[in-house]
Amino acid sequence: MESWQWFRREFPACTHWTYLNNAAVCPLPSRSRVGMESYLDEISNNGAARYPAAVEEPLSRLRRQGAELIHARPDQMFVVRSTTEGLAVAATGIDVRDGDNIVLVEHEFPANIRPWLPLRRRGVEIRFVAQHNGRVLLDDLAKAVDDRTAALSVSFVQFLSGFRIDPGPVAELCHDHDALFVVDGIQGLGAFPVDVTAMGIDFLSADGHKWLLGPEGVGLGYVSDRALNRITPAIEGWLAAERPFDFFDVTQPLKQDAARFEPGAYNLAGIRALVASLELLLEAGPERIAARILALTDDLAERLRGAGWRILSPRDRAEEKSGIVLADRTDLDADSLALRLLERKVVVTARGGAMRVSPHAYNDASDLDVLMEALGAIG
Ligand SMILES: Cc1ncc(COP(=O)(O)O)c(C=O)c1O
Repeated sequence: MESWQWFRREFPACTHWTYLNNAAVCPLPSRSRVGMESYLDEISNNGAARYPAAVEEPLSRLRRQGAELIHARPDQMFVVRSTTEGLAVAATGIDVRDGDNIVLVEHEFPANIRPWLPLRRRGVEIRFVAQHNGRVLLDDLAKAVDDRTAALSVSFVQFLSGFRIDPGPVAELCHDHDALFVVDGIQGLGAFPVDVTAMGIDFLSADGHKWLLGPEGVGLGYVSDRALNRITPAIEGWLAAERPFDFFDVTQPLKQDAARFEPGAYNLAGIRALVASLELLLEAGPERIAARILALTDDLAERLRGAGWRILSPRDRAEEKSGIVLADRTDLDADSLALRLLERKVVVTARGGAMRVSPHAYNDASDLDVLMEALGAIG
């Protein structure tokens, strides 16, 4: 049996809590805290005296690591301040004409819905595809996409049901109709391997604060070469210019790569922390992390079933599973249950009237023992 103790030791939260809520906000690993503190040291001791190196070094590391994680090129990566902001880059900048449409999935987390809705004011139709017991079906998407579809945007993993979509066939569908394939990656990136090139993803956004094990307020954006030509930055920031320090040439062209979507000053504290988080993920290996999360959630689902819970997450097909297990028991109110678990130092979330449990690779069977014991004591 492979030991994950070294990985678990990165998470001081494990000494205080049985923390099973990574689909909401992950606890920060120690090395990421050190990363963030290194920024505080830098800025308090040196101000900007060591610029531009103090900016460019962590920034280019983040681009390199992000590219390695998702099999892209560093020049296709840009830094986002939230998943929403990244998706809004696509929604506000996409090349659309009156009568075009955008295909979305009903009841997704609103970060992947609201940024698209203002396109209605430009004569764009927003088409919603229904979920079936938390699953998103390719057939339904195929019925919604046509030659006037400018983009289809979907979550890699559904925030409620935990359904994980297979991006490849969706990409094929989009490309058959010359539509962009946009992905809200936050509920899957860091937990499951992503290869944007092989999967045909055109645009991806994911903040750091869930499965990427980073802080809030900084994350990864990716844009494919074909999408770069079709998305014009709605915000033309000073930093997006080809030579940003040539201050008085305000008509100079924008950068030719994804950095054109980074408008102004960076969240350098967050970037340094996220660099450390990605280092941790890459060290552990995305495939091994995925296998570990699947083993833990399989174990969890089985234990919950045994204790009379109904598993609402799609768990029949391996490729649809994720780190999210949604479960309910008709005799228990999920909101008060989550509060009572919290009193016992067990952290899960109530979502949609059910209990959502979301272990990451630093969790282990002892956490599941504690959860099941607490549930037994409460219910
Ligand atoms: C699918 C999904 N997208 C986005 C977010 C968060 O978006 P943001 O990073 O903009 O806060 C969440 C959860 O908070 C989510 O579950």
